[in-house]
Order: sequence, then structure tokens, then C-alpha cells
Amino acid sequence: FDIDWDAGAAAMGDYPDFMAKEIAEQPEAIERLLKDRLTPKGIRLDELEMTDAEIAAIDRVYIVACGTSYHVGLIARSLIESWARIPVSVEPASEFNYEDVLVSDHTLCIIITQSGETADTLASARKMHAAGAKVLAVTNVIGSSAAREADGVLYVQAGPEVAVASTKAYTAQMVASVLVALFLAQRNGSLGYREVSRRFRELERVPGLIREVLARAWQDEAAAHAFIGAGSSLFLGRGLNSTTAAEGALKLKEISYLHAEAYPAGEMKHGPIALIDPGFPVVVICPDDRVRYKTISNIQEVKARGAVVVSVATDGDQKIAQLSDYLLMIPPAPEYYVPIVAVVHLQMLARYVALARGCDVDKPRNLAKSVTVE
Ligand code: G6P
Repeated sequence: FDIDWDAGAAAMGDYPDFMAKEIAEQPEAIERLLKDRLTPKGIRLDELEMTDAEIAAIDRVYIVACGTSYHVGLIARSLIESWARIPVSVEPASEFNYEDVLVSDHTLCIIITQSGETADTLASARKMHAAGAKVLAVTNVIGSSAAREADGVLYVQAGPEVAVASTKAYTAQMVASVLVALFLAQRNGSLGYREVSRRFRELERVPGLIREVLARAWQDEAAAHAFIGAGSSLFLGRGLNSTTAAEGALKLKEISYLHAEAYPAGEMKHGPIALIDPGFPVVVICPDDRVRYKTISNIQEVKARGAVVVSVATDGDQKIAQLSDYLLMIPPAPEYYVPIVAVVHLQMLARYVALARGCDVDKPRNLAKSVTVE
């Protein structure tokens, strides 16, 4: 591959901080990763380093990761299960390392790690190797420990990520997961070539959709006002976007030090709704998808209790516009790619809230870019 990280790539250039730069770099990072991936034979993923027979026989996948990369794993599980019809377990590495695992010759372990140096994740890879599984590393850092120890390495090619809070590596890792899911589906016959190439073509549109979101940063800057004076906040979403909610809440906590709790929207009535009082900020990810109308009822429930509602919604959604205090609009996108597009708003929102609270967005207190102790 052409991995063209020139020496100056890590310099901040004209951006006010690395986080701003890395958020802006997401479309190009994804384009780099997708380049030459679709061939007349389907998705090219030589990195897996497995024979055709081994790939077709994979009957169980474990995904292990930490932090933001763990959220990628949650998205990857849904895609691999629905497209390749293979059961997937996903676990934070720090938990996984103390659990029993079910490994056979047909088990694939995928570790996802931006830095390739997270100690817990590396320990998981060793554990799975010892148990006889093949290990694929999805990582951003060339020659990292993860890359050296795994059987196969898929480099996400996002370029150096300096800000502690991960942004471009998150979206690139999600795109890498889409490639893995399409590849496995095609190789085990769950999806035909036409379907795989159609979804790949849709994926190629994602960088353009992210550019549209980037041009709407003013919406995030305005919505940051919802958090002024708040002591806590709630992020809600359904399906794949309950993970988008989790990642949005994580970004906010990491860099603004404001408490944020993420919940699957339908679970809110079993507890978190008790938190809501007038002025409480609630971010709801509610794109135009199968569960939109269900999530709208959650918006109504929090609105009725005085919450300040920040909605991530699809262009033209009048209903959500009427119910929300602030809107973060996304262009229409296939349901399975919405998490890659929608999270960009939540990254920008977290950054604006952190700046308003006077925080150093690149170097949050108490956090390290890679955690090399278990
Ligand atoms: C640290 C970083 C997080 C990151 C996590 C996993 O906690 O602060 O931003 O998501 O490690 O890192 P990795 O390099 O394994 O993806």
C-alpha cells in the first residue's frame, strides 16, 4: 500500500488544535483506506493472511478492544452478524482477559487498537493465540506491537493521531470493520458480488457525507450552549446508534470533564429518565431509519420533563425540528453507515463544549494516548 505519511503530517498547520485537524482529516483518511479495495473478484483484504478455505470456515468471531476502539467493535459486531451471519462476541479487553473463551480452529479474533500498544488488548491477542485462534489486528500504527504479534494486520491508514481523544482513527476503524464484514460475507457466500459492490459504492460516498457534516460545524458550536452550566448530560440512540451515543458521551467526558451517560433510548424509562429536570441536556441520535418513530417518542418524553434537546437528525426532518432545541443535521445515508457520519457532529460538539469550559482539547487531564499497563 501507499502509506504516505510525510514528516510534516503531525504538525498542526493552520488548525487551532490537533483535534480540529484530525476531525477535518476524516474524509481523506477514509478515501485512502478504500482506495483499490473493490476488484472484479470482490473486496480485497489480503491482510487477513488466511487461505480461502480457512476464511470460509470461520464460524465464530471475538472482537476485543478498549475505549473508543471498543465502540468500533460494537458496530463491527452488528455488521458481521447481519452481513456475514457469523456470531460475534465483543468485549473490552480488560474484561475479556479474565473470561473463558470458546476457541476452535475456525475462530477468528479481531483486535482493534489505534496505537497498537494498549496492554490489555495485546494480552487478549496473546490469550487468543495461545488458545489456537487466528488473530487479525486492525490498527493505525505501522510496526506497532499489535501489528507484530497478530497473524494479519489491517492498517487503517488514518495518519498520525496526536490528540488523546480519538476521532479520525474511530471513523477509519469503522470503515475497516465494514470492509471486514463485507469480505467475510462475500467469502462465506452470505452476500453475492452485486450486493457487496453496491454496499462498497455506498461506502465510497461516506467521505462526501462527512464533508457536508464538517461544513455544519456552526450547528455544533450553537448546540454547545445547551451544556453551559450543566452538571451532567444524557446521550440516547437505538440500534447501531446506541453506540454512537456511547461514543459521543465518551468524547464529551474525555475532553470537557462534564459527566455524560449514554443509554439505549428504549432503556431510558428503566432508570435514567429520573435524572431529567428542567434544563438537563439530552443528545438524541435519531436519523431517518427503522426506529426513528420510537426514538421520537423518547424525545417527547424528555422534552415533557423540561430537557434541553439536541437532536442528530436527517435533513428535512420537520417533526424532530419542532421537538428539538438544537439540531445537528446529517445528509441522508444508508442506515448502516449513519454511525460513521453522525459521530462527526458529536466529536465537534464535544470539542466546542470543552473549549467553552476552558479545557485543553488535545491533552485532557488524567488520560494517556495509549495505556501500556494492564
Ligand atoms: C486510551 C485513549 C483512548 C483510546 C484507548 C484505546 O484510553 O485515551 O482514546 O480509545 O486508549 O486505545 P487504542 O490505541 O488501543 O485504540
